[in-house]
Amino acid sequence: MRKIVAGNWKMNTCPSEGVNLAKSVVEMSKSLTKDVEIIIAPPFTHLSEVFNVVEDSSVALAAQNCSDKSEGAYTGEVSAVMLASLGVKYVIIGHSERREYYGEGNELLANKMKQLYANNLIPIYCVGESLGERESGMQNDVVKKQLQEALWGFDKESISKIIIAYEPVWAIGTGLTASSKQAEEMHSFIREVIFTHFGEVANEIPILYGGSCKPSNAKEIFAESNVNGGLIGGASLVSDDFIAIAKSF
Ligand code: PGA
Repeated sequence: MRKIVAGNWKMNTCPSEGVNLAKSVVEMSKSLTKDVEIIIAPPFTHLSEVFNVVEDSSVALAAQNCSDKSEGAYTGEVSAVMLASLGVKYVIIGHSERREYYGEGNELLANKMKQLYANNLIPIYCVGESLGERESGMQNDVVKKQLQEALWGFDKESISKIIIAYEPVWAIGTGLTASSKQAEEMHSFIREVIFTHFGEVANEIPILYGGSCKPSNAKEIFAESNVNGGLIGGASLVSDDFIAIAKSF
């Protein structure tokens, strides 16, 4: 199974800071001894400059969002074609901050992923429950719905390429982390749900954990059999921490 550590920079860094951070990640990732794939997702504004930094390295470039439309009069949107032309390989789709603050629902997210697949881009599709949903024991139903409504319209071949990120909303940026047991329970549930619809390909899909993942807790979480890496927010802005997380495998 692939091992992946992806950094979601969110709305942080100006272009020059982003370039420096990317340089540092590229340099430090040379010291990785295990086969861990490193992905970084800078803001749109510096994808192009950061691509120049990572181009000849093993670090891959991701975007944090993408339009559900292909082109035209959609002010402020960025299309999958544009991202692909910049050397982007992966796109984060359905991050809980997009769902919560920008009202993005599963149907819209499916349309965004259609755009990605049409342009040979790979979605990093995020799912996860809120604190209230977990407290009322709804987490499995919520995550199942996020998977069904966004993914069931695709064929097996498309789904075989996807990366899933499980990010419990209550753990994002809060300092609270899911226990390794909670993470494993949900990751194996996600794999099972995908298996019931798509079959064997479910066993090839990397499922990343996200939510206050740090060098101090990554080792324990990554040791779980269905946790194939992390989607890292805050700690991805410090290259030492980000690479230390990648070394936790
Ligand atoms: P965090 O964010 O690591 O800062 O909690 C994770 C994410 O939102 O992808």
